[in-house]
Amino acid sequence: MANSSSGDSVTDRLLRVLETFTPTRTVQTAAEIGRRAGLPPSTAHRVVGELVAAGLLERDEDRRIRIGMRLWELATRSSHALRLRQAAMPSMERVQSRLREHTQLAILEQDEALFLERLSGPESGANVTRIAGRLPLHASSSGLVLLAFGTRDLQERILAGPLAPVTRETITEAGALRRALADIRRLGHVVAPGYIEDVSTGVAVPIRDETGAVIAALSAVLPRDAQTDIALYELHAAARDIERSLGFRR
Ligand code: PHB
Repeated sequence: MANSSSGDSVTDRLLRVLETFTPTRTVQTAAEIGRRAGLPPSTAHRVVGELVAAGLLERDEDRRIRIGMRLWELATRSSHALRLRQAAMPSMERVQSRLREHTQLAILEQDEALFLERLSGPESGANVTRIAGRLPLHASSSGLVLLAFGTRDLQERILAGPLAPVTRETITEAGALRRALADIRRLGHVVAPGYIEDVSTGVAVPIRDETGAVIAALSAVLPRDAQTDIALYELHAAARDIERSLGFRR
């Protein structure tokens, strides 16, 4: 890929531009994008213009820029995440309607838990998760499941730290994390009270594909002091159904 005078490739610049968009920053001016992406103003205007022309970004009436539907279309069309989400959806809806608490599906992505889906009802409580948002592996129930069943390399990389505290309950010590991961593998689930948010308890179970490899975590976010037995029962039952539809035979 051709390099600019600053030495970064076209792909690097494209990624930096797209990464200036976040769940809470969905519209920006071209100048703001340039500043946040570390691009000179003329380059930022040119790159943004090209991306708008290609439909990957869109310009609104106020000339502010947002992510284009074409980007969503291309990314979603052939995504393996879509197959997983479709396989999981009926079971997730059942869990959500029975528990009436947030129900979510996450996969491992670049050493974090990336959320593909979150179902919530009007009576569900607090939740820091967003669809297409990420949470740290050591500080969320889904993340801990993905870490516990992840590769040795992944585990050692995360255990090497830093294990940043999110709340006072977050596991920040490598030995404690190692023991927690062993417990998760033994029990087949995790209960994470207040690890990422004082007022909530995350509970999560693994989901296996047809080869038996853990490819996702299914979780519920409950009020901090809620009983977890029913949620765990529902999550395990849902995980079995999803695994069956993915072709996993126990
Ligand atoms: C969790 O998975 O542990 C979790 C996620 C979101 C929350 C609380 C807990 O808001």
